[in-house]
Amino acid sequence: MTMRGFRHQVANLSYVSDKSMQVTSLDQHLVLARIKGREEALADRCANRGAALSVCMIVDGQFECPYHGWRYEGRNGRCMIIPNLSKEERVPKTYRVPAYAVEESDGFIHIWSQGDGAPETASPSLAPDALGPETRDAALIAYPYQACIDLLLDAPDIILNIPGVAIVNQHRFGDPSCTADEIDVRYAAIPASRRGKGLASDYPFQVRIRAAAHGGNAHVLLTRDNGNTVAAAHMTFAPVRRTLCTILAYGSRTEQQGSERPMHIGIKRVIDPTAARDAVDYVSRFLK
Ligand code: FES
Repeated sequence: MTMRGFRHQVANLSYVSDKSMQVTSLDQHLVLARIKGREEALADRCANRGAALSVCMIVDGQFECPYHGWRYEGRNGRCMIIPNLSKEERVPKTYRVPAYAVEESDGFIHIWSQGDGAPETASPSLAPDALGPETRDAALIAYPYQACIDLLLDAPDIILNIPGVAIVNQHRFGDPSCTADEIDVRYAAIPASRRGKGLASDYPFQVRIRAAAHGGNAHVLLTRDNGNTVAAAHMTFAPVRRTLCTILAYGSRTEQQGSERPMHIGIKRVIDPTAARDAVDYVSRFLK
């Protein structure tokens, strides 16, 4: 399957600076830096001898390879300076490294997978469904990025924090539906007060998760058994380091009804290691 036109979260915006850093998108290493207020990304491989550009200096707004000093323009990846050329020589136009379109959205840096140029399509909107008050949550989780996405699909109660609601990880409604772009799965949910009180026979809530097959985005919907929506959120996952990832939930909820506490979709701060170990790989295997 082609990966062109997909965008991938690669970093939390707050971690990006005018110093180069390495990020990973679809197993490819890239070098990312903020240059003159705008994020730019290149393949992490110098066109000269293949050295990693992620340890480079930013000099006069360009990425300078630490080995022989070749300098690259971040916007298009063109090599602009080769220090040992004579005054008469010019840098051949073909000397370049792939440049990636970068987009900042909801506190994250996204890379478009096609490389060399601007995205062909507009970004999918991350605006929350307009139910009522807006809700936001963000967490830095000590758990690997891909494992967090897998847990959301296989055992969402480990990741999602919905006050007053417990998701029944063992009870899915039907099989997940999978296309090339998306996995769609629905879980039963009960009031949190009924958690651990034996098998439930009725499920007043349903949690639907639609996760992008590529790129670390998911849409989560909490509905009642009558189909009415209670809360919705877009979730974005981004790796920080091998064993750290950030999750952002941006959504909305319905207005408070009577004395019932309003419910919103948030993120747990700590992963329960025992529950995570026991989570079955039934849904997430479709991502592989
Ligand atoms: S390896 Fe980068 S300039 Fe030589």
